[in-house]
Parts: sequence; structure tokens; C-alpha cells
Amino acid sequence: MKIFDNIQDFIEYEKGLKGSIGFVPTMGALHNGHLSLIQNSINDNDITIVSIFINPTQFLEGEDLDKYPKRLEADKKICSLAGVDALFIPNTDEIYSKIEPTILAPSQKAYILEGYKRPGHFDGVLRVVLKLLNIVSPTRAYFGKKDAQQLYLIKNMVSSLFLHVEIVACEIVRENDGLALSSRNIYLNQDERQRALKISKSLKIASKAMMKNEFNSQNLKRLMKESIDDLEIEYIEVVDRNFDKIDNIELNNSIILVAAKVGSTRLIDNIWV
Ligand code: PAJ
Repeated sequence: MKIFDNIQDFIEYEKGLKGSIGFVPTMGALHNGHLSLIQNSINDNDITIVSIFINPTQFLEGEDLDKYPKRLEADKKICSLAGVDALFIPNTDEIYSKIEPTILAPSQKAYILEGYKRPGHFDGVLRVVLKLLNIVSPTRAYFGKKDAQQLYLIKNMVSSLFLHVEIVACEIVRENDGLALSSRNIYLNQDERQRALKISKSLKIASKAMMKNEFNSQNLKRLMKESIDDLEIEYIEVVDRNFDKIDNIELNNSIILVAAKVGSTRLIDNIWV
């Protein structure tokens, strides 16, 4: 596996490549969720490239930028064993220049839900994803459904800016007990880890209710809320795949989303129905 920490060398390497390129952008501290994106890319493409870049512009003042987990040596091993062709680890000074055009996510979809509590977060995400897509020029890029709003906004950017890349949405990977994998799970102590399970359980409760023909958003949200009312719920919402709130579940076109704080750790989860 080749490793690049400099954009120019990476671009030189890419010039010599033939065939389709799959790209998996990450912020590192890789887990099986990331690995499933990598495996999807390896299955679909001739070459797979993974980036690790903890993007400062998507963290708000007071968020966990400084303590965000860093596990570069382990990440290199994971990528190499998985069969990744190249690992791209650019540095902040190269990615961002002092003067550059402003990229803003569409406010009506980027300042709700995740963006309501984290205003500007998605501006930073789109800024870096656009840069990374331009550097890597992949055939396909892989993103997890775990970050559903991020995925929606990236797809929207790709289609509205006519970018030449196919965005592939990958299923959420969970622990055996249901907890969605996240790099931030390592912040949880044993008790918090146990309480965090209530988030995925609340989504299971919604699934069970839907099996009994309960499709009303308010009713589903109430059931979910009751099941996690001892956590600090930030939102529970039912949206369609364009992130418009809906009164009733539309099968194959809906997402039920939860964000809650367990201790000081903020976790998100969702199901696509
Ligand atoms: P990061 O949190 O490292 O996630 C990288 C990718 O892995 C994202 O597409 C995310 O949705 C996916 N992912 C995380 N946990 C997952 C899980 N349990 N199952 C499936 N996929 C999962 O998301 C980011 O980084 C950044 O915002 C980034 C897109 C790299 C831009 O900086």
C-alpha cells in the first residue's frame, strides 16, 4: 500500500493509474463501519483510495477537534490488510489556503437537525469533500448511511455542481448489540456504553410499531421518546429522503433519525424505511 502525505506526490501517483477508482474519505480512527465502505469500494473498483483528514472546518468552536481520536499506525494496518491501494493523509495547510472561495451548504437542509445544533458543520463538510473529490477524481466515492444528512448534502452537491463522480451509499454497521459504530464511541465509559444502546433500541421500537401498521410520525416519535427519555435527546425526526419532514412514513422513502447525548458524548443513529 502506498502512503502519501503530500498532494502533489499523490496526484503524480494517480496519473499512472488505469481503471476505475473508488474513494473512501474518512477522519481516521477506523472501525468496521469504515471497513465496510472500503470493502464495497474494493469490490466495485480496480483501485481503492482512502483518505484520513481530521477536517478542522467541520468542527465548531468548543467541539472535540483537539481530542478527536488519532490512531494512524492502526489505521495504516487496517487499510493495508484490507487491500487498499493508497492511503492519502494530507495536512491542513495544504488543503486550506488563506484566501479561497466560500462553499456554503444549502441552508434550508444544512441548518436543520444535525446543522441546527452544529451550525456551519455541513459548510465545512462540503468544503472538504469538494476539495478531496477534486484532488482524487474518483469514479465512485463511498459514504455511510449512518451520517444520513451528510450523505444527502453530498449527493445534492455532486448533482447540483455536476461533479463527475458516483456517490455510493453504504449500510450502517452495528455492534452485535445494535450500537452503531462510531469513532466517538471510545469516549463512552462502561455505564454510558450501556445507556447508549437505548438509541438503537428506540429505532427498533419504531420498526416494531411499523410492523403493526403504525406509520404516523408523531406517534412513532412519541414511542421512541418514551424509550429514551433518560438521555438528553437532541432530536427525533421523521424525514423523507430529501430531508423534508413528513407526517407519515412513506415506505422506501423515509428515514427516522435520532441524536442524543450520553454524558458529554453526542451520538447519532437512524434507520432507512
Ligand atoms: P468519518 O466520521 O470518519 O466517517 C467516514 C465515513 O464512514 C462516512 O461516510 C460515515 O458515514 C461512514 N461511517 C461511519 N460510521 C459508520 C457505520 N457505523 N456504518 C457505516 N458507515 C459509517 O464522515 C466523516 O468522517 C467526515 O465528515 C468526512 C466525510 C470524511 C468529511 O470530513
